[in-house]
Amino acid sequence: MSTPPAPTSIFRAGLLEGQVALVTGGGTGIGLGISTLLADLGAHVVIASRKPPHLEAAEAAIRARGGAVSTVALDVRQPEAVQAVVNGIADRLGRLDVLVNNAAGNFYAPSATLSPNAWKSVLEIDLYGTFYCSQAAYPVMARQGGGRIINTSMTLHYRGWPLMAHATAAKAGVDALTRTLAVEWAPQRIRVNAIAPGPIPTEGVRKAFALPPDSGVPDIFAATEARMAEYARTGNPLGRWGTPEDIANMVAFLASPAGDWITGAIFVVDGGDWLAKREG
Ligand code: COA
Repeated sequence: MSTPPAPTSIFRAGLLEGQVALVTGGGTGIGLGISTLLADLGAHVVIASRKPPHLEAAEAAIRARGGAVSTVALDVRQPEAVQAVVNGIADRLGRLDVLVNNAAGNFYAPSATLSPNAWKSVLEIDLYGTFYCSQAAYPVMARQGGGRIINTSMTLHYRGWPLMAHATAAKAGVDALTRTLAVEWAPQRIRVNAIAPGPIPTEGVRKAFALPPDSGVPDIFAATEARMAEYARTGNPLGRWGTPEDIANMVAFLASPAGDWITGAIFVVDGGDWLAKREG
């Protein structure tokens, strides 16, 4: 077997050695970027996803880099299943240091016709799932003397964002949950923070942000490569699209001792995107 390439990162090798991290939705896109960096830094990463093919591919990719990784099929909307997964991690690996609530569901749809099930699906994945996973992690983290929970938020709810009532409501809830649990669980030394990523054109994100025709909403992830390139040049204050690594770096920072006095904070990682005036 050939030696895996040495992973390179701004963070020091072995930073998270001996730690166990659970990343929901960690098999693709931003989640995979997070799983990969945490494993590169020495954590044993457990990737949870609804989709077995995502799990298999992610596990193989991280193993090929020399990372410690295992996978589990999980729908974060099911609290009993979440509980079983977290208990299984505690039994098998002895601890849970970092929980990254990355799993999310999203799509553009007019509020006037959004079905109850569509509303419920997004609320249940983004908000309920974040709560179920955090609640399941609590006793394990409290017992071992602390832990870090890192939630995934967004910036679209900082102003009105048509066709996204379900997701903006869910992520506003995630922000509230982040602040409340941070205070409530500080005595147990469980730090709870969130990251609000800007536009990162992964396959899943581009699918989720595909606009219905004549929507009147700014087309962030425009369908043509030329429009994408133009956005990178002129639309984002820092002049480029985001990458999964941009978010993974913030996760690693918050998971590390550098974040020891940070809790209840929501970090926007978007190149200044939401602050800038955007033409359609
Ligand atoms: N517009 C309107 N309604 C939609 C929709 C869309 N684009 N996509 C799904 N829905 C509705 C479905 O019609 C269904 O409602 P109904 O039963 O009343 O018809 C409901 O949402 C649930 O859809 P379903 O596909 O059965 O649910 P699911 O659990 O398999 O999928 C979603 C969950 C809907 C969130 C799906 O988009 C998903 O799995 N996303 C994961 C990836 C993702 O979005 N990542 C986010 C990256 S930012």
